[in-house]
Amino acid sequence: MKKLTPYLLIFLTLFWFGFGSDKPQLTPEELLSARVDSVLSLMSLDEKIGQLNQLSYGIGWGPTVKVSVPNEYKELIKEGKIGSFLNAIGAEFTYELQKIAVNESRLKIPLIFGLDVIHGFKTIFPVPLGEAATWQPEIIEMSAHYQALEAASAGIHWTFSPMVDIARDPRWGRIMEGSGEDPYLGSLMAAARVRGYQENLSNLNIIACAKHYAGYGGAEGGRDYNTVDFSERTFRDVYLPPFKAAVDAGAHTIMASFNEIGGIPSSGSKRLLTDILRDEWGFKGFVVSDWNSIGELINHGFASDLKHAGQISLNAGLDMDMESRSYITHLKELEDEGKVDEDLIDESVKRILRVKFMLGLFDDPYRYCQKEREQKNIMTDEVRIAALEVAKRSMVLLKNEKNILPLKKTYKRIGVIGPLANSKTHPLGGWSAMGDSVDVTTVLEGLKNYVDKKIDIAYAEGCKIDDNSTAGFKNAVNIAKKSDVVVLCLGESRDMSGEACSRSSLDLPGVQEALAKELKKTGKPIVVVLMNGRPLSIPWLNDNANAILEAWFSGVTAGEAIAKVLFGDYNPGGKLPVTFPRTVGQVPIYYNHKNTGRSGDLKNHYTSKYLDLPLTPLYPFGYGLSYTTFSLNDFNLSSGNLTEEDSIIVSVKVKNTGNYDGEEVVQLYIQDLVGSVTRPVKELKGFKKVMLKRGEEKSVQFTIHEKDLRFTTADMKFKSEPGKFKAFVGANSADALEKEFELVE
Ligand code: GLC
Repeated sequence: MKKLTPYLLIFLTLFWFGFGSDKPQLTPEELLSARVDSVLSLMSLDEKIGQLNQLSYGIGWGPTVKVSVPNEYKELIKEGKIGSFLNAIGAEFTYELQKIAVNESRLKIPLIFGLDVIHGFKTIFPVPLGEAATWQPEIIEMSAHYQALEAASAGIHWTFSPMVDIARDPRWGRIMEGSGEDPYLGSLMAAARVRGYQENLSNLNIIACAKHYAGYGGAEGGRDYNTVDFSERTFRDVYLPPFKAAVDAGAHTIMASFNEIGGIPSSGSKRLLTDILRDEWGFKGFVVSDWNSIGELINHGFASDLKHAGQISLNAGLDMDMESRSYITHLKELEDEGKVDEDLIDESVKRILRVKFMLGLFDDPYRYCQKEREQKNIMTDEVRIAALEVAKRSMVLLKNEKNILPLKKTYKRIGVIGPLANSKTHPLGGWSAMGDSVDVTTVLEGLKNYVDKKIDIAYAEGCKIDDNSTAGFKNAVNIAKKSDVVVLCLGESRDMSGEACSRSSLDLPGVQEALAKELKKTGKPIVVVLMNGRPLSIPWLNDNANAILEAWFSGVTAGEAIAKVLFGDYNPGGKLPVTFPRTVGQVPIYYNHKNTGRSGDLKNHYTSKYLDLPLTPLYPFGYGLSYTTFSLNDFNLSSGNLTEEDSIIVSVKVKNTGNYDGEEVVQLYIQDLVGSVTRPVKELKGFKKVMLKRGEEKSVQFTIHEKDLRFTTADMKFKSEPGKFKAFVGANSADALEKEFELVE
């Protein structure tokens, strides 16, 4: 008898389960499971293993790209030996690949296409660290929504984003891809991105993938891929929460990380991939490895060969193998040898089929391959306007001496100087998918467009980002001497952060600081615009520049956004999602540190400090200025006692005491004064970004519940402990008003 095609069998399954009859209806989940099971029941072991195999095959993207599929891949698809491609892009190219799967393979199971869309597909938004500086999850959700719109219109079903790794070491290049050092802020950002990508899973949404599970940002020395070894408590209370938040927000996939934790590589860890992720958290999606992270179990000395690596990873709960080819090569043999159960393979296959059903690919395998949508939805004004909004809000004002900013419209000449002043590529940042430098507005272009010839804009590169030539200094100094003010654009190249881009120094590369010193000698006011993918140690700039604007790599609209902020069309309201050290010697330095037995005190010799540095960072977590000023008053707690049943209302009045309308992020921190284990001196537990007109005052309220005080206690339980606490409210993590309260039994 001709094999039942999945579609026929799915229909029969639905009929059997009484679909459309007066029998009790299946719940959506039951229906989904029935459909998945019906397809699984048709599959051979080879075909099941094929679903667990993901390979990378991309030919670029755009109307000029010639679409062709090499025979190797055609055969793999026809034989059902591949379930997913990454880096296959474009409505037409993905259509060609999907057509082979749907027309020429035995079971016609559709492929799923993944791509790293982490801050834009074609319209590039600020890098995620910059997006986190908005402290506006709703803005991040909007950003993810538009990223998904463009990616889905180009045939992409699945993004390997959000990257939710907590990073406390700015030497680590991938700090750029995440939301900084704090688990509370990072969790909100993770959930917002998952919502924005997945939303209602229409055919203009894409599947999210929280990565890199887990602990990847804890790499020793800030060196990418390096050993991670921290306590279970730190793991659970600092590094895991954003992953839990992503799972709770409904992320359908998780990516296992390269690193080990305390001797066990994440990609081979049953504790991580099954015990925590599935048994504790109830995660129903599937886990994809990172690129060859299964194969790298051999390098870790955790597997003897690729076959052994596949056995470990599948038994640990890793469902899809990105690019190691261990599963497609060895799983059948491992199953024959009884080293891997077919039931376990079935579980992985079902998780993957479930996502393909949710994407609607069994109903219409080509629903993401619509060329007219690809032409209509990508790089539109609407998306660009969204990117501009996010870029403006991502910027953090670090210094503004004597209110040199906003720039005056009465200036005769502005000198725009620096290696990042007219760069078309670096504002894209790392992991910029199909972003094209041709679409980037540089700072020079943005300022010229803004002043519209009413102010003379003079430009000099001054120096390169990262070489030692000072040949350009003279011209830059000459331009500065003839200018009323200098906008000096400094920072890193886009390739100095991101994967495998750790730096041993946090200084400005090359001779950029030397250029700044030469320009300082002219006596002209200097406004520094920073473009960087990590915190930089800029103590000299902090002491000598008149103003400093942290602009990160803010994407295609960088120049427009920076011009609008510098001229005050938008009053910057961003806050740092990560601590800026004075020098790399302070690392690791983060706000939610422990008090130790000898907390730092420069007056007392025998305390935890450096002989040659102040105790404090250059800029603390949560820091950011405005063109206006704010005051916080009337800080009150509704009660001094908190019980499990009730809550405490924290209220504070914030007033705009300056001359511009502006936004302030009022932050709530809590300290547990005594615990069964030592507790951080502060932990962010809430924040509210409020817009205040000049002179306006608003009351901001937070609610503290007992659950907000929970942590991993000495007996490894996640619970609160009665005792005294402090509540802090402030505009950053360092300067805050405080009041005590007590959690009572
Ligand atoms: C890389 C990265 C990961 C990315 C994957 C696919 O090695 O670690 O973040 O999603 O490969 O490009």
